[in-house]
Amino acid sequence: MIKEPLAIIILGASGDLAQRKLLPALFSLYAQKLLPENFHVFGFARSEMTDAAFRARATERLMCRYTPEARECATLMEQFLARCHYVGGDYGSSDAFRHLADVLRGEFGTLNVNRLFYLAIPPSVFLDAAHALNTSGLVSHDSHKGWTRVVIEKPFGHDRASSDELVTALGQVFTDEQTYRIDHYLGKEIIQNLLVLRFANCIFEPLWSREFVSDVRITWKEDIGIGGRAGYFDDFGIIRDVMQNHILQMLALTAMGRPDKLDAHHVRDEKVHVLRAIQPLAPEDLVVGQYAAAEQGAGGRPAYRGEPGVPPTSRTPTYAAAVLRVKNDRWRGVPFLVECGKALNGTLAEIRLRFRDEVGNLFHPGTPTLSPNELVIRVQPDEAIFLRINNKVPGLGMKLAPTELNLRYRAAFAGVIPEAYESLLLDVVKGDKSLFIRADELAASWDVFDHVLHDLETHPREPEFYAYGSRGPRSVAHLAERHGIELETGA
Ligand SMILES: NC(=O)c1ccc[n+]([C@@H]2O[C@H](COP(=O)([O-])OP(=O)(O)OC[C@H]3O[C@@H](n4cnc5c(N)ncnc54)[C@H](OP(=O)(O)O)[C@@H]3O)[C@@H](O)[C@H]2O)c1
Repeated sequence: MIKEPLAIIILGASGDLAQRKLLPALFSLYAQKLLPENFHVFGFARSEMTDAAFRARATERLMCRYTPEARECATLMEQFLARCHYVGGDYGSSDAFRHLADVLRGEFGTLNVNRLFYLAIPPSVFLDAAHALNTSGLVSHDSHKGWTRVVIEKPFGHDRASSDELVTALGQVFTDEQTYRIDHYLGKEIIQNLLVLRFANCIFEPLWSREFVSDVRITWKEDIGIGGRAGYFDDFGIIRDVMQNHILQMLALTAMGRPDKLDAHHVRDEKVHVLRAIQPLAPEDLVVGQYAAAEQGAGGRPAYRGEPGVPPTSRTPTYAAAVLRVKNDRWRGVPFLVECGKALNGTLAEIRLRFRDEVGNLFHPGTPTLSPNELVIRVQPDEAIFLRINNKVPGLGMKLAPTELNLRYRAAFAGVIPEAYESLLLDVVKGDKSLFIRADELAASWDVFDHVLHDLETHPREPEFYAYGSRGPRSVAHLAERHGIELETGA
């Protein structure tokens, strides 16, 4: 257990992220004794709330995943909630943060404790909050007074230029060393396992290149629409919301070279190398779509343009598919088909590497080639890794069929699979930045999409409509075909 006292300050503590993810994750860490003995959580937001009301709201979401015994769980919750406090105020008010500093001093007897700030607020108030925190004296750059770390959530800007501006402006308050840019996908257990799968198993690395891989598909889809997030989503769209961050991070971890060491510096250097090798996406290699009402009875499954708060002529994409090319020796010529969408025919996030066809069919000469092998890393809903191989169907005669060597996490591993936020918050407390986005990595990610994002703004095109609950726009098949990708296999 870490000895130094720790103050965790959540700005936007009344919001969805704080209530649904951060407080439950902190409780899970507490229940596993992974937080310092002397820690307090300070919720801060504009809403008026007493400590008791804040605790009552938090209780609704806390879960005893690690200590299911009811009595022990209730005791732990009580102990955790007693360390949760709430302070109301405006994000741009130094006075409000001075008051927060007083409350903090009241709990610890000093301000000289480690301080973790979590900006769970809309990006429009990031800078006001950062400056007000700074002028209130809550941000420290003197390590003798305890460390200061700040966690910020995507969206990190709107494009390359606004992202650079945000990096520079936040950099006036927090150093890059103090800044933890979070992409919660990187905290997911199976994503963390990607490096282990690739670099701790000698069978994969020799096959992991253009020589043996014909194409890579990364898919992210949800079977629900945007819910109540119209205000945010209509400004950003799916490319900024999912493709530029979650999908590109999955691609970077799939395509990067072997780091010399497993520390934050070396891992992120390799990711930056590969991100910089991705050719900026060309408009003709992008398909954008938007969901229309469900085909059969639109009841409860409206068109995107019919969602509350969405302008009736909005062209914001709720679906995007793109073929990306990584211009380096390892991947030259291998198309990466990346696809993400809302209101589709299922919920899924996975990475699928398809291997090249076996030359000739020894078992049935003269007939078409065998099914290609595929390695699938499924991130959600059920974490799994499976390898599609050709196998003899048991019986007399020689009949072959594609079969799966299947590692299903829930069946294979007895323990609880940690939530992404548990893992990432613990890394922030420990000061491990491997799973956080460095500024140059962020810039390289925007560079892939900057051109098409501006093209969509300067030459607005009508998105291709697809029915709510369908497979998505039909023209993705043409895009795939043009790049020599067969969609049928395993789709
Ligand atoms: N929710 C998620 O799962 C998720 C996932 C990825 C990234 N994020 C990012 O994490 C941050 C927080 O997300 P969230 O879903 O918790 O957001 P949220 O619920 O919309 O906002 C958090 C809090 O910020 C305050 N707020 C909302 N709009 C504001 C405005 N226009 N001006 C000033 N304050 C405002 C509200 O508190 P008061 O009115 O009480 O001040 C609200 O409770 C955002 O940057 C979001 O993009 C969220």
